[in-house]
This record gives sequence, C-alpha cells and structure tokens, in this order.
Amino acid sequence: MDELRTKYLEAIAAAADESALEELRVQAVGKKGEVSLKMRELGKMTPEERQVAGPALNALKTEITSALAAKKVALADAALDARLATEWLDVTLPARTRRVGSIHPISQVTEEVTAIFADMGFAVAEGPQIETDWYNFDALNIPGHHPARAEMDTFYTHRAERDDRPPHVLRTHTSPVQIRSMEKNGAPIRIICPGRVYRADYDQTHTPMFHQVEGLALGKDISMANLKWVLEEFFTAFFGTGVKTRFRASHFPFTEPSAEVDIQCSWEGGTVKVGEGDDWLEVLGSGMVHPNVLKAGGIDPDEYQGFAFGMGIDRLAMLKYGIPDLRAFFDSDLRWLRHYGFASLDQPTLHGGLNR
Ligand code: DAH
Repeated sequence: MDELRTKYLEAIAAAADESALEELRVQAVGKKGEVSLKMRELGKMTPEERQVAGPALNALKTEITSALAAKKVALADAALDARLATEWLDVTLPARTRRVGSIHPISQVTEEVTAIFADMGFAVAEGPQIETDWYNFDALNIPGHHPARAEMDTFYTHRAERDDRPPHVLRTHTSPVQIRSMEKNGAPIRIICPGRVYRADYDQTHTPMFHQVEGLALGKDISMANLKWVLEEFFTAFFGTGVKTRFRASHFPFTEPSAEVDIQCSWEGGTVKVGEGDDWLEVLGSGMVHPNVLKAGGIDPDEYQGFAFGMGIDRLAMLKYGIPDLRAFFDSDLRWLRHYGFASLDQPTLHGGLNR
C-alpha cells in the first residue's frame, strides 16, 4: 500500500495537464484501477485482516482522490496565471489622444452672424432648399421674362413644359424665406434667414452651392435709416473693428429704393484687409421691401413697410478669416478643415467675443 501511495502521489505531483491527471485517476481509483482491485480482494480476507486493510485502503483512496482534486486546481491556477501574464494591461498608461473634430468656418460665421442679429432682436427663420418658382421668383417681384431669372443660373428640378406639376428650383437665394415668414407670422417682423443656396457657377469665388443670410424687418415706420444703422452695427461687431460702409444706389426687383453696400478694405500686400485702406468691397444687397413683395406675403403695403438685405456667408468667412479660395470650403480636405476649423466647444457669443 505504501508503494501504491508513493507511486500515485508522485505521479500526480508530476502530471503536466488535466488529461494526464484523468489517466492517473482511471489507473488508481477507476473501476478497474489498482486501488479498486485491491478493495475487491477485501472479501477474500479474514475478518481480522479486513479490519486493518479496509480502513487503510479507504484512507488511501481518499488521499489519492484529494491529491487529484488539489492538482487539478493547481493546474487551473497555473493556466490562469499564464493567460494573465500574456493578457496583461497597464491601466496606468496615459490614454491615446483622439483627434477632435472642428467647426467649419461656414458654421462658425453663421453662429457669429446669428449672435449679432439676435442681440438686435432678429429671430432665425428657415425655408426649404427646393422651392417653387413662385416663392423663388414671382413672389419676389421677378416676373417670368425678367433677366434676373436667367442671370441667376438656376437649377431646375424639372421644366414646367414637360410636366404639369408647378416648376421647382433649387433656391437661388434666401429671399423666398421672406415671403414664407410674412405668410406665417405677418407683421411686424424681424428675422434673419441663413441657409444654403444654389447657382450653376464654378470658379475661385463661386461654387454651385453656397450660403446666404437674408434679413427682413417690417413695422409701421421702419426706414432706410434703420437699415443703415443695423448694417453698420453688424459690420462693426462682426469684424471687431470700426468698418466704414458705402451705400450705393442699385436695383433689385424686390426692393425700392435699393442699395448695394460696400465695406472699406485694403489690398496692400496682395491680401484683402477689412476696415483699413481706401478700397471698397461689395458685400451686400438691400433696400426697402417692394410693395408687390409685401402683397405677395399677405401684408398690406399701406400699413407696413420695412427693409430687407441679403449677403453671402461664405464671402464674409473668406474676408474675416483670410481664406483665399471658396472652392476649398467644400472639398472636405482634412488638412484644410484642421487649419481653418474652430474649437467645437467654443460657441461664439457677443459677451464671449466674436473674433478668434
Ligand atoms: N437676393 C439677392 C441675391 O441673391 C440679395 C438681396 C439683395 C437680398 C437685396 C435682399 C435685398 O433681401 O433686399 O443676390
């Protein structure tokens, strides 16, 4: 029995894995194992012999079984240790930095413009980018034969003569939102409408999609003087410096009288600088809303009057942040976006400052 004990306890201690352990279990205490066979011999013994051999065999069986179990646990522990050693993670390492996205200059400037006009009591209004001919042209006093329709290089979604649905266009300006806002809210009203507009045109300063912001203020006694003050106030806040403006008489079908507005700039050194020098740069169209436009919006021109203006957001962004080519705005080039983009948690506000 001592031989058996030594043989199996040593073999168990030396077993390399679970299958070796299982083999030993079968050899020792399995149905036909050595210890089990010895137990069968108990029947042939005298009662005296059996009294000694019985408990000793039982004790041996228990000892081998618990050695097997203990070795099994030890093997599992060793396996786990080996696995932990290969899968070890240093949780104290600093995190890998991740690039944070940036705010596109168009979005930034839209926020800046909105903040300035909000401070003067203008709400933001929006309209669809696919417009009917009526909202984009007729309601704005641009009749079918008017050259403005051709000049605007309009994208048509389909041609009226091939279809009985009313003709739709990609809006060529944000001015149709004036009409929609008058219909919805009536007068008095004070809104700006920033958004995308479309024209078939492509070069360094033109892209088929670009952005405008429209302004509209209607009341009982709103005049050109209010228009001038609002715009001068806007440019000063937007560029962060006193900017001289020049109002030039002009013509738009939707305003009478109409004015184009230039801002003071210098071209010295080949790049444009706003607010200095004695050159002028045209940035905006404006005027007193034409009575026909008020009527189209459901407003009585004998009771209400007011001003409207429209300007290019992309143009403003190029001027303010020194971006030379408009086309790059829409190329989605990550290097460009990282260079000209703005911090995403740094919302422009009047009190926080509008110059980055
Ligand atoms: N809609 C004009 C354009 O796209 C801009 C404009 C000019 C808007 C005069 C106005 C305005 O509201 O009064 O060129």
